[in-house]
Amino acid sequence: MAGICIYGAGSVGCYIGGRLLAAGADISFVGRERVASEIRRHGLALSHYQGGRWQLPPSTIDFSTDAGAPKAAGLVLVTVKSASTRAAAAELATILCPKTIVISFQNGLGHADRLRNALPGRTVLEGIVPFNVVMSGPGTFHQASQGALAVKAHAELDPYLAAFTAAGLPLSQYPDIVPVQWAKLLFNLNNAINALANVPLKEELSRRAYRRCLALAQAEALALLERSGIRPARLTPLPAGFRGCSMRLTGYLQGWRARC
Ligand SMILES: NC(=O)c1ccc[n+]([C@@H]2O[C@H](COP(=O)([O-])OP(=O)(O)OC[C@H]3O[C@@H](n4cnc5c(N)ncnc54)[C@H](OP(=O)(O)O)[C@@H]3O)[C@@H](O)[C@H]2O)c1
Repeated sequence: MAGICIYGAGSVGCYIGGRLLAAGADISFVGRERVASEIRRHGLALSHYQGGRWQLPPSTIDFSTDAGAPKAAGLVLVTVKSASTRAAAAELATILCPKTIVISFQNGLGHADRLRNALPGRTVLEGIVPFNVVMSGPGTFHQASQGALAVKAHAELDPYLAAFTAAGLPLSQYPDIVPVQWAKLLFNLNNAINALANVPLKEELSRRAYRRCLALAQAEALALLERSGIRPARLTPLPAGFRGCSMRLTGYLQGWRARC
């Protein structure tokens, strides 16, 4: 089995790649010089909100700034931010062999399509990282919330499943991943609110006014999804449509909905 390359190793890429590496997988990383130099000096220190800790010394980490490095990989996990997708796709198009599988582990919709357009003939799959990863120091990444990696189901993934399972990051495969992507997007509506609030996430969500903003945004999105015939998947014990209810705590939105 050919190795796994993390393309765009930042928070998510270093965390997922590091966990796979810690479990013995054949991993290479491609990223920026500033990340490379931190890892050369400090290695990777990974942690999990439930207490797991993984320490990888620099000598064990194959980190390159060369866009050609994924040439021999059998599976490429693209973990760049949205705005970098086109450039990453163009770089990958010149080096990936036809058999390479690509997973877009990026938030939002449309990234896999962008990669697919640039990589004709390759297997490009939608992936979802449901948990948050924060960088808390040089080479130090922390998984701050729960959730299992999700990916569009594909038989060619079979040889790689054991590596993810061994790392404690099993891949949940979905024949239809669109409802899962929308469900994740409903959560991510808070990103803009959090950015505008300019306070840490925990503090933002502890304030009722911000929770109301999120509830309103989610209610609007759910109404649009309903009209489009899209039913977001259930990512938590509560159905997607209940999330706004649990956030608002006041019945405020019920009144708003009734008036609309
Ligand atoms: N962080 C999270 O908690 C989280 C959770 C779920 C999903 N996600 C998703 O995961 C993706 C990555 O997020 P992130 O927080 O890990 O971002 P990040 O920390 O910015 O990591 C992406 C890294 O890729 C580098 N990069 C961009 N284009 C590249 C290229 N062509 N070649 C090599 N390296 C390149 C970036 O460098 P530059 O800064 O120079 O562009 C950056 O160092 C996003 O789509 C995000 O939506 C993130």
